[in-house]
Amino acid sequence: MCLAITGPIAFFISETSAEVTQEDEMNRRWFVKSGLLVSGLAAMPSVALAALTPTPKQTEGPFYPRELPLDHDNDLLKIAGRTGRVMGTPLHLFGRVLNTDGVAIDGAIIQIWQCDAKGIYHHPRDRETGRDPNFQGFGETRSNAEGAFRFRTIKPVPYSWRAPHIHLKVFTPDGKETLTTQFYVAGDPANERDGIYRAIATEAERKAVTLEIVQAPELGGNALATQLTIVIG
Ligand SMILES: [Fe+2]
Repeated sequence: MCLAITGPIAFFISETSAEVTQEDEMNRRWFVKSGLLVSGLAAMPSVALAALTPTPKQTEGPFYPRELPLDHDNDLLKIAGRTGRVMGTPLHLFGRVLNTDGVAIDGAIIQIWQCDAKGIYHHPRDRETGRDPNFQGFGETRSNAEGAFRFRTIKPVPYSWRAPHIHLKVFTPDGKETLTTQFYVAGDPANERDGIYRAIATEAERKAVTLEIVQAPELGGNALATQLTIVIG
């Protein structure tokens, strides 16, 4: 299942018209509740008209896919051909890609990858035993004309010495890699013990890659939601 966007707040699931209506309405209600239902650039309140600070670059880590999985759409909770339920807490991630002038980047390619709820990457370098076979682990999508994109994934969990995080890459519309970074969970005590997080130069840059996660029952059961703004320098 691929989650698509037709406007800054118009999201739909491209399977049946009933699902389109329901999903659209759920997202509309979530944006109203969270105070984000405004038009155009102002849809992300963190966007300022002054020059924006580029999102800080961070290490790629050892678990970027050697080859992309066959199913690598933006819904990491569903793998084509599988019906099992993903372990972990669903997280709806709503983002935008901007340049430093605050102008939306249309058609940017955004990739995310993260470990499953057991702390295991679906990668040959990580262990196979205990993997969640229903978690997609990696996803890719494109920003729309408003620079908006979305993913459905799980709330990241810690593993080894790492704080919970989601890896992210952005490519220009013509496929040139332009940013590799990681996003963290606001308030997680492991952040301050994580050397990669602590190595981010400034408090403002750390904040730019720290996700405020909120409850979003309108998006289903125990769903969580968050938003992020990516600024390409
Ligand atoms: Fe990682």
